[in-house]
Amino acid sequence: MTTGKPLLRALAGETLPVPPIWLMRQAGRYLPEYRATREKAGDFLSLCYNSDLAAEVTLQPIRRFGFDAAILFADILLVPQALGADLWFETGEGPRLSTITGPGDMAALKPADAIHDHLSPVYETVRILSRELPPEVALIGFAGAPWTVATYMIAGRGTPDQGPAHALKAADRATFEALIDRITEATIGYLSAQVEAGAEVVKLFDSWAGSLLGDDFDRYSKAPAARIVSALKARHPGLPVIVFPRGAGEAYAGFAPATGADCIAIDQDVDPAWAAERLQPETCVQGNLDPRLMVEGGPALTEAARHIRDTLSGGPHVFNLGHGITPDADPDNVHRLIEAVRG
Ligand code: CP3
Repeated sequence: MTTGKPLLRALAGETLPVPPIWLMRQAGRYLPEYRATREKAGDFLSLCYNSDLAAEVTLQPIRRFGFDAAILFADILLVPQALGADLWFETGEGPRLSTITGPGDMAALKPADAIHDHLSPVYETVRILSRELPPEVALIGFAGAPWTVATYMIAGRGTPDQGPAHALKAADRATFEALIDRITEATIGYLSAQVEAGAEVVKLFDSWAGSLLGDDFDRYSKAPAARIVSALKARHPGLPVIVFPRGAGEAYAGFAPATGADCIAIDQDVDPAWAAERLQPETCVQGNLDPRLMVEGGPALTEAARHIRDTLSGGPHVFNLGHGITPDADPDNVHRLIEAVRG
């Protein structure tokens, strides 16, 4: 049986008359109250590790917009940091990390079960949220998928084509696979601890899955996701899991059944009609409005939102963007979007 929370009902496979809605990066720089709280924390990472303020920014978009779900405020790169990597954010540029280039760097990382002291403020954020969220709002925990996290750990930064990770995979497969394994183990423990602290759903972000082709996609996106989902479901029976192998294209098909996930999140390049025909019979679909429309607004936003809602109305659907909302988005457009979806 499902509870009354719309998100949990959709993830359980129910077709609802109005899809639940939340947005990737719904807590973020496009909101003045987020910018004020981040200022108070000092910087982005201090905000992630300040449980009270991280809970506060998680709640801000819930109060302002009345979304159906809150997503824990944290970052996928906290796991590498907990494994011993150096991590900092260059203003206006993005993350920087110490790099993994060979077996020596791998040997210097901590074991997967040694991450929890470092990450305990995140678990405390989840505990605060599970007390403070309105009863109809579901709480989503998350982590980066092993491949996506590995691309940052290997390159030491975000890369347009994940070149350094592909190069290490080709040159030193043993080190590359040891890294994927270490992140996989750490992610199971990290997500499990989030669930124990009160997360009701977890989402795995494989933002760079689209650059893995053929066998590599199966081995380094699908297989680690399957391992994570099965370990989590063994520990937490019935836990709903959302997977997001962004950019997977045709390979979105079959991903949820192969991994045991309950929902597949899709990016804005997927035709909703294809998703309705090919994905919804096998799983709940989350997505997939183009985030640029949150900047543009106007009738294009309303029409695109209704088109996605109507096209996916014959099966389980969670309304979301195809990727995170951007800092230049207009908060008023979020109101317009919610009106279009619920109206
Ligand atoms: O969705 C949410 O609201 C929850 C919080 C969340 C953040 N990052 C906060 C954040 C989540 C789920 C993430 C996931 C994340 N982080 C991903 C996967 C999803 C995706 O976007 O593809 C990735 C690849 C990262 C790594 C990361 N974190 C990058 C590359 C950057 C810099 C780029 C940018 O947008 O500035 C971040 C920083 C980050 N993570 C911000 C936020 C709100 C902006 C930091 C700030 O406030 O200055």
